[in-house]
Amino acid sequence: MTIYLSISPDTATLTERTVEVLEALGSQAISKYGRFVVSLAGGSTPRGIYQRWAQGTTLDWSKVALLFGDERCVPPDDERSNYRMVAESLLAGLKTQPQIYRMEGEHADPDQAARFYDGFLAELLGEDGRIHLALLGLGSDGHTASLFPGAEALQEADSRCVSTEAPDRSMRRLTLTVPCLRDAHKLMFLVSGAEKAEVLSKVMEGRLDPELLPAQFFLRDDRLNVNLLMDEPAAAKLKRRQ
Ligand code: 6PG
Repeated sequence: MTIYLSISPDTATLTERTVEVLEALGSQAISKYGRFVVSLAGGSTPRGIYQRWAQGTTLDWSKVALLFGDERCVPPDDERSNYRMVAESLLAGLKTQPQIYRMEGEHADPDQAARFYDGFLAELLGEDGRIHLALLGLGSDGHTASLFPGAEALQEADSRCVSTEAPDRSMRRLTLTVPCLRDAHKLMFLVSGAEKAEVLSKVMEGRLDPELLPAQFFLRDDRLNVNLLMDEPAAAKLKRRQ
């Protein structure tokens, strides 16, 4: 395997390219497996991509299972909720709704919510046990999903989902784990904006230290099948450009 880099001149082109890849991967998965199991990235980068995806899609969404790569421990209607961002950007634009599997951020016991999601994933993924596509973003501290630098969650070797805490201790989070994400058939990172140039350069070309830069668990391992889609401002400090 290897890591495929795609650098778009601007955000609009990054959005179009990402939707093209999403449609191709979704169509391939539905043809091959009869369904498309995809875990979505949260945060702000994907919002415009999800909106455009809903507008331009030709997938049979009744055969798409939407998972979440992570969730904030807030109610689903909270403005910080990744589910709410997905509902407003992707789901609102779809004529046919996919099977949606929320992480229960509102659960009073985040550890219990993580155990529920872990058990549900085991059932959903069945024999194969693997997500077809995991969409991921990159935080300015090198985190991805809610896998934060130095967090205990980085050591989880068995469960597919655990609870963890945001570094600023502002809230608990639920996240898919390193082994779960590394096991995906394909990983796709979406990185946009000049504010990510420094961290992307460290993750891709700096000292290898995944405990400090958790995205390196996925972006610095040639055994994985990874697409890194970015725009020029985010790629500005990269030496390797393809
Ligand atoms: C979250 C995300 C997180 C995000 C990065 C990038 O819940 O915040 O899952 O991993 O992808 O922090 O966030 P932005 O796209 O907002 O820069």
